[in-house]
Amino acid sequence: MFSLEGKVAVVTGAASGIGAAVVERFGKAGAHVVAADIGDGSALAEAVGGIFVRTDVSDEAQVKALMDTAAETYGHIDTCINNAGIFRESPILDTTVEMFEWIYRVNAVGVLLGMKHAVPHMRSGGVIINTASAASLIGMPGIVAYTASKHAVHGMTRVAALEFGPLGIRVNCVCPISVDTAMLAAQDNRNEEIAVSTTTSPLGRIIDPSEIAALYHFLAADDCTMISGTAISVDGASFAGYSQAMLDAVVSARQGA
Ligand SMILES: NC(=O)c1ccc[n+]([C@@H]2O[C@H](COP(=O)([O-])OP(=O)(O)OC[C@H]3O[C@@H](n4cnc5c(N)ncnc54)[C@H](O)[C@@H]3O)[C@@H](O)[C@H]2O)c1
Repeated sequence: MFSLEGKVAVVTGAASGIGAAVVERFGKAGAHVVAADIGDGSALAEAVGGIFVRTDVSDEAQVKALMDTAAETYGHIDTCINNAGIFRESPILDTTVEMFEWIYRVNAVGVLLGMKHAVPHMRSGGVIINTASAASLIGMPGIVAYTASKHAVHGMTRVAALEFGPLGIRVNCVCPISVDTAMLAAQDNRNEEIAVSTTTSPLGRIIDPSEIAALYHFLAADDCTMISGTAISVDGASFAGYSQAMLDAVVSARQGA
């Protein structure tokens, strides 16, 4: 049950955070892992008996070479996880076209290229998982470029599920709220974001990358047969409504005002 034995899984953004957790989990579950990153993920890949292909997901030739290498090494691709991403704050009035295009190029075009060059090597039963974000589902002030790029991932996931469904390929995206990774640690507003996430979630904490990897394992397994075209929110009930802690915080802020 939920075996990934012998499955060939390409993971981008594999050197850190969510991608690294996926590499570790998929390796333990028996998958042949092809780890890709602009940074060095060779030790992680080797630790699970996989291979590392240095790849900038925003470069079409490099993404094609990644997918071709995976197929040449293992015969085909079963699971393509388009996870690489970057985050920068970008209030609309301060956002340059160059910055917007850079973030969009990595986060959105990178996902497009991953799907475009993986699918020719995939067969019926294949699975694509795109790492989207809570910012794919709602707007948040101060991050217009990231939000636009992640809404694009959501939209492309829907289109891909419709286009590749007839090939027997399922496509989903995963939308986490704050995950404890290097990306979050590098944010100037990390303390504020962690405070908001732990207050809005009645579970009262942020997410560990291993908890996202567990969902990817489920989505990639043959047991998961009819989930496609959807955005799965991993938000600890933050989007279910107003948590008591959030209501209390609003009331006490009002009383203090
Ligand atoms: N951490 C969070 O709170 C959070 C929340 C929602 C969504 N996400 C998304 O999860 C994904 C993984 O992020 P993470 O939190 O693990 O961050 P991370 O910074 O730990 O890992 C991201 C990885 O992507 C790689 N990368 C960046 N640009 C690349 C490029 N052009 N080509 C190839 N690789 C590149 C980095 O080298 C790094 O190894 C991203 O798409 C991110 O937007 C993260």
